[in-house]
Amino acid sequence: MAFFPLLVVTLILAVTSAVNSGSPSERAALLAFRAALTDPYLGIFNSWNGSDCCLNWYGVHCDPTTGRITDINLRGESQDPIFLKAGRSGYLKGTISPEICSIDSLTSLVIADWKGISGEIPSCITSLSSLRILDLIGNSLTGEIPADIGKLQSLAILNLAYNAISGKIPASIVTLTGLRHLDLRNNQLSGELPSDFGNLRMLSRALLGQNQLTGPIPTSICNLKLLADLDLSMNRISGSIPDQLGKMRVLSTLTLDSNSLSGQIPSSLLSNRDMGILNLSRNSLEGSIPNTFGSKSYFMVLDLSYNKLSGLIPVSLSSSKFVGHLDLSNNHLCGTIPIGSPFDHLDAPSFSNNDCLCGNPLRTC
Ligand SMILES: *[C@@H]1O[C@H](CO)[C@@H](O)[C@H](O)[C@H]1NC(C)=O
Ligand SMILES: *[C@@H]1O[C@H](CO)[C@@H](O)[C@H](O)[C@H]1NC(C)=O
Repeated sequence: MAFFPLLVVTLILAVTSAVNSGSPSERAALLAFRAALTDPYLGIFNSWNGSDCCLNWYGVHCDPTTGRITDINLRGESQDPIFLKAGRSGYLKGTISPEICSIDSLTSLVIADWKGISGEIPSCITSLSSLRILDLIGNSLTGEIPADIGKLQSLAILNLAYNAISGKIPASIVTLTGLRHLDLRNNQLSGELPSDFGNLRMLSRALLGQNQLTGPIPTSICNLKLLADLDLSMNRISGSIPDQLGKMRVLSTLTLDSNSLSGQIPSSLLSNRDMGILNLSRNSLEGSIPNTFGSKSYFMVLDLSYNKLSGLIPVSLSSSKFVGHLDLSNNHLCGTIPIGSPFDHLDAPSFSNNDCLCGNPLRTC
């Protein structure tokens, strides 16, 4: 009989923890978060009414065993019936309330594509130590990235793209050694990339285009063995392209266009058979195009336009397996355009505005 009371106690515990689901303080934090936002069109918060915030509150998810809030997932562009019924994408005004920082069980905070959410990222957000996903893309956020962002040691995805965030990329960011996806595109970030950026050893996508970043490409980036996609386009990056960048094994998309890069194109960059999209357009690259293409070269995009490249178009380019979009225009190239299958489908604009190129599809030599 001794186990009978134990069973009762277990049952009582089970019932109380179910009742605890979505605790009053977390519910209050959500309501404060909601109060800082205005939703003029969709009524996405209409379901935020009952006493249990873990029960059918739109975009709120809880851990069923602990009853604590784990996810806030509010996307302004989604296939949800709310949007289909309204026949429009989302629009929210207001700010992100710092009250959200008291929900310390959060692992995922997604407040994305609402266009009108402004103000700063609450600095207390770095106290959410379980956070794995922080996605605030597509709002109108200003201010800086919290300096101690490195405290978010569980972070795997940091997406602050398409906002108006300024200041430097905080030095502490390089301590996020679990970070896989970093997207800061289209903000007003300035200053240099941290020189020890290569400490982010799990990084597979580093998208930093359309900012005002200066300084060189840190050579430590070449230590990122999982990096597949590096976008530094439309910044003010200067110096030369590190040689080792071409020796990275999984890097397949490299967009460095519209910067102030100088020096020569590393030959390894063109012989790297995994490189599929390479845009170096609108820099100050000079010298000749290395004659290092091979039969395994497979470029969906190879854009070297608007530089100061001179000499011949390398004959090895014609032995490439595939070149989809080629743009060598607006350089100082000269001589005969090689013949071969990669060139068959290309039109004159791929070669226009050079010093003295000739042959199909330009004038005969
Ligand atoms: C709460 O919201 C749900 C979903 O929008 C709705 O069905 C329900 O009637 C609401 N309850 C109250 C008390 O407003
Ligand atoms: C390469 O970059 C230039 C300059 O930023 C841009 O205009 C061009 O569209 C890009 N090329 C491709 C094929 O995306």
